This record gives sequence, C-alpha cells and structure tokens, in this order.
Amino acid sequence: MSEAARTILQQNAEVARETVGDADPGFLWDFWYPALRSSEIRGRKLTTAVLLEVPLVLGRTTDGKAFAMRDSCPHRGIPLSYGHFDGQTVECSYHGWRFDACTARCVVIPSLTNQDKLKVERIFAGHYPCEERDGYVWVYMSAGERKAVNAAAGARLPDAIPVAPALPLFTTNSRDKYKITHLSCELPSHVDQGIIGLMDPAHGPFVHQSWYWRKRHSIHEKEKQFEPIPNGFRMSKHSPSSNSLPYQLLKRMTGEPVTTTIDFVLPNQRLEEIHSGKLWFSSRATVTPVRRDLCRIDFVAAWNVFLPVWLFRVFAKKFLRQDQETMIRQAEGLKHDPRLMLIDDADRPAKWYFALKANLLESRRTGAPMVHPMDGPVTLRWRS
Ligand code: FES
Ligand SMILES: [Fe+2]
Repeated sequence: MSEAARTILQQNAEVARETVGDADPGFLWDFWYPALRSSEIRGRKLTTAVLLEVPLVLGRTTDGKAFAMRDSCPHRGIPLSYGHFDGQTVECSYHGWRFDACTARCVVIPSLTNQDKLKVERIFAGHYPCEERDGYVWVYMSAGERKAVNAAAGARLPDAIPVAPALPLFTTNSRDKYKITHLSCELPSHVDQGIIGLMDPAHGPFVHQSWYWRKRHSIHEKEKQFEPIPNGFRMSKHSPSSNSLPYQLLKRMTGEPVTTTIDFVLPNQRLEEIHSGKLWFSSRATVTPVRRDLCRIDFVAAWNVFLPVWLFRVFAKKFLRQDQETMIRQAEGLKHDPRLMLIDDADRPAKWYFALKANLLESRRTGAPMVHPMDGPVTLRWRS
C-alpha cells in the first residue's frame, strides 16, 4: 500500500472513530436514575458509579445526606474518588482542593497565598442532585450539568426538579407490615434494547418456561387494553393470565379476584401492581443506562402476601437470569449492526416507547407541549 493510501485510510479510521465517539448515545437527561443501593454508601467511604457515561463519586455526609459529584476534579481532572472525605468535604488527592460534598462548591485551595485574588467560592466540581428512596441512591442527571463546558463556573440546575420516584406501597397505616426485596443485573446492551425487552409480551413462553410459571404449549391468544398516561402507557387493570400458578394461588388465598395493572413511564420504569382483596404486590423495574453498550436492571418488589423473601428471590433471580442470558446472546448478534423490525401488535409497546422518547425530545427542543403517541385506549392482541 502506498504511503498516501495508508494516510487516507488512517484519516478515515480517525473520522469514523470520532463520529462513533461523538454520536448521540440516545440517553434521556433531566430524569432521576438509581445509581447505587443505599447500603453501598457507608461511613466516610467514597463510592463510584457511572450513569449515562458520567463518572460519579458518591458518599454520605455525617448528617446522613447522600451526595453525588462528577468524579473529576475541576482543577486537573483526577477522579475525586481518590481523595479523602471527612464527612463534610471531599479533598482532592492531587493538590488538596476541598469541595463541600452537598454543593460541590470549592472551599479551600491550599496553594493560595494572601496575595491571590482568586475567588475560591466561585469554583465548583460537577454536582448532581441526590435522593434516597426504596433503598436506592437516586441521582438527577441534569442536562445543564453535562453541558456546563466551564465546569468551574458551576452549572445551573433547572428551576423545578421533579421529586425522586418511589415504589407505590398499599399500606393503610404505618403499622402495616410488608416485605421488600431488591435485585439487579447488568445487560450488555443499549438501554433501548433493555427497555423493549422488559415490555415485550411475546418472549415469555420461550424465555421463561417453567412448570410453576408457564409451559410453552400453554401459549394462547391474549387481548389487553392499553391507555395513555403522562409520559407513558398503561396496561389497564385486568385479571392476569390464568396460566400462571402464582395468580391461581393468590385467588385461592383470598377468594377474591386478582387484578393487575402495569405501567411504563419514561425514562425507564415498569411498575406493576397486583391486588386481591387486602393482599397486594407492587414492583418496579428500571433499566438504567451505564454506557451506550451497558445497562442495568434494578428490580424492587414489596408485598403483604404470605410469601417469604427468600422464596420470592429464588424465582425472581431465575427470571432475571433468563432475561439476562437472552440479552447476552442478543448482544452477540447486535455487534454486527443487523437490520431489525418491530411488528404489530406484540411490538406495539416498543413502538410507543420509541415514539414517547422521540416526542419528549422534540417537545424539549421546540418548547411545545409533548404529543402523546396514543390518542386514546387501544386493544392489542397477541399470542403468548
Ligand atoms: S487536580 Fe484536584 S486539586 Fe489539583
Ligand atoms: Fe423476560
């Protein structure tokens, strides 16, 4: 190969690399995402996490308040997680600049002398709002923070940040007992694939066959009503599939009908509630983008049904594992950038998800109200 040809090839490769590197990874900003379990931030330990390709350092102040900063010192970029945390401020390991953990405002630059005019308090590390709910540390991934080119100036947060999501509990008073458990698993795929996998009604008989859940030959035609809800859609309240043993047991326990409602809400939440008489079960699965090629399912469930936590976990883990194995295999295929398709009606929820996402971005771009892709209730039919 001639020298000139080689140079052109190298240049092309660089352009390609840059385009891939800069391509919009398709994340939804300005939403809360679970970063860690609350139990992972203890004492004066600094812990790291990655959300939407942003490296974060998290911890808890001596007053018990969880915080999240960009894991990068605004001075020279060394991860702040290598530094020291005294319960109030994080000290960078390189030149000892100190940042207030909750505001990320710089409070000390040890190298300054009396002559220096630099206004220390005008310097900020990257900072993200942080709340704890249901045993998770949630971080509000604000687009403003990400775009703050001059990180040192401190980013402006949107005026109103929505409250962090909480799992619905159906207790009638604070003495009501319920059980709660958490599970998580990583998927080697883009968040969109994780989400459409989560809402996909047609894979059940193939991926999740088992004697207690359902058998492959129990496949039958289903008809479900869906309705639009803000930022999402709902599988309207209905009596769940008669081919699953757990629902049959529940019905026998209370003698009352079992009903279930499943919601999907942007950016990434699937909420399910099941009721039968006074008994209830509530669960939430979120699919959180870590990187463009990695996402994580966080699953939390609470219930007042007589069901030991360990037993539930045995089944839930198996269920998640089946999904995870399938997605690992799917990732093998997706590496080659195949053409894909979405079919009616089984893939309609996936189409709604992509439309919701696109319409939300469009409304943010134009400032016009978001157009919902559904204009009313819809009945979908599929076999599963
Ligand atoms: S790099 Fe952090 S203080 Fe210099
Ligand atoms: Fe599944």
